[in-house]
Amino acid sequence: MNRLTGKTALITGAAQGIGQAFARRFVDEGAQVVIADINIEAAQQTARSIGASAVAMDVSDTLSIKAGVAAALEQLGHIDILINNAAVFTAAPLAEVTEADFVRTFDINVRGTLFTAQIVAKHMIERGRGGKIINMASQAGRRGEALVPVYCATKAAVISLTQSIGLDLIQHGINVNAISPGVVDGVHWDGVDAYFARLENKPLGQKKQEVAAQVPYGRMGLAEDLTGMAVFLASADADYVVAQTYNVDGGNWMS
Ligand SMILES: NC(=O)c1ccc[n+]([C@@H]2O[C@H](COP(=O)([O-])OP(=O)(O)OC[C@H]3O[C@@H](n4cnc5c(N)ncnc54)[C@H](O)[C@@H]3O)[C@@H](O)[C@H]2O)c1
Repeated sequence: MNRLTGKTALITGAAQGIGQAFARRFVDEGAQVVIADINIEAAQQTARSIGASAVAMDVSDTLSIKAGVAAALEQLGHIDILINNAAVFTAAPLAEVTEADFVRTFDINVRGTLFTAQIVAKHMIERGRGGKIINMASQAGRRGEALVPVYCATKAAVISLTQSIGLDLIQHGINVNAISPGVVDGVHWDGVDAYFARLENKPLGQKKQEVAAQVPYGRMGLAEDLTGMAVFLASADADYVVAQTYNVDGGNWMS
């Protein structure tokens, strides 16, 4: 349980959910962790409870990313590992998609991933010791969903960015890879369930039961189910793994 001893990690959107599980596991594995989240109160509370630190960051705002990375560097000295985990979900049939929702979702999920990677990679390149960048994709990025055009497109873009940025940065010893979860229970999926309750006229909780029943493993994922892959991709064991997206989804998708 000390696979990341001496490493430093910046994890966006880690105040709750999967990011929080990453932060906790990385601390357990010996890493020094900074949580960067738009919800600074929740980030600080999480950080206190697991022995990490917190900085405020809105990944849709480049100035905020720069300020957050600078604050993280003050605490960590350098960054070995970045997890681009912050994202938002949205759902609506094509006819109801609004420009405002489209722009907000792309700004956080795609622009945030690209510019956080750019700003942290600049530091990693200047330092000259390589690094690991892990992006959070989704099974939603593997194929479309009739009621989820915008979120699915953002996650397809994350898979594509992982490929292009991964090919660019490996010359600097920086591995860029992604994790593609399936359906992971928690606050995020409470929100997804509420969208589907409205769009498909279902009682709250029904969509969760439906998706859980379809997972080959036999249940929805837990945030902790994702942490083993994150530790692997953040460790030297993944030095030869470049520009890949790994499904960790109980068998939901094969690619
Ligand atoms: N939960 C799932 O079923 C599932 C499935 C596939 C992929 N994912 C992906 O995994 C990642 C984590 O998902 P989760 O379920 O933990 O989500 P979550 O909604 O529980 O947590 C998201 C976190 O991101 C933060 N955040 C939101 N906007 C931000 C911004 N502009 N700047 C900084 N932080 C911001 C939130 O405050 C929150 O702490 C996301 O990229 C998500 O798309 C989740």
